[in-house]
Amino acid sequence: TRVKSYESILKKIRKKDIPITMEAIEENIKDIAGVRVICSFQDDIYALEESFLKQDDIELIERKDYIKNPKPSGYRSLHLIVQVPIFLEVPIFLEHKKKMMKVEVQLRTIAMDFWASLEHKMRYKKDIPESQVKFLQEELYDCAEQSAKLDERMQGIRDVIGWNKNE
Ligand code: GTP
Ligand code: MG
Repeated sequence: TRVKSYESILKKIRKKDIPITMEAIEENIKDIAGVRVICSFQDDIYALEESFLKQDDIELIERKDYIKNPKPSGYRSLHLIVQVPIFLEVPIFLEHKKKMMKVEVQLRTIAMDFWASLEHKMRYKKDIPESQVKFLQEELYDCAEQSAKLDERMQGIRDVIGWNKNE
């Protein structure tokens, strides 16, 4: 789990020109709260999505399937922006106030997560020589493609050996 830092909320407000009101910020920044779920196999991601969205207190706001449609960088993950009720304690009234909150849920395989961590490191490293940037981007893209093929083959093996419900 992750809660967006104050600094990075401010950065996004400036970047997207969001008015400084609670309503506007809540409406426009959908990843203040984040959850990342790492699975072994690609099929687990969609199975988990299905049972997660079946819960009646969870409302799907937006779905981005970067597994079926990877980003130009090679990035793969399933993103779900959901709205969940949170219960705030209001001490004076001794009650729990219900408030809806947006959460960005990222579901990915171990291989996708391995790739995304490395690519993220490169993205935020500012001192990479210009001459190496293009090479690294292409290399990472190629790794993402190979990694996706590995995920597919591992999934294939699991499909053949089947799965024990207790595992
Ligand atoms: P922001 O990118 O958060 O401004 O919003 P957006 O609407 O473009 O969301 P997007 O669907 O691109 O996903 C946002 C999050 O997904 C990021 O904060 C990262 O955690 C992750 N992500 C998206 N693209 C990439 C990528 O190319 N590489 C890596 N490493 N992570 C990515
Ligand atoms: Mg983005």
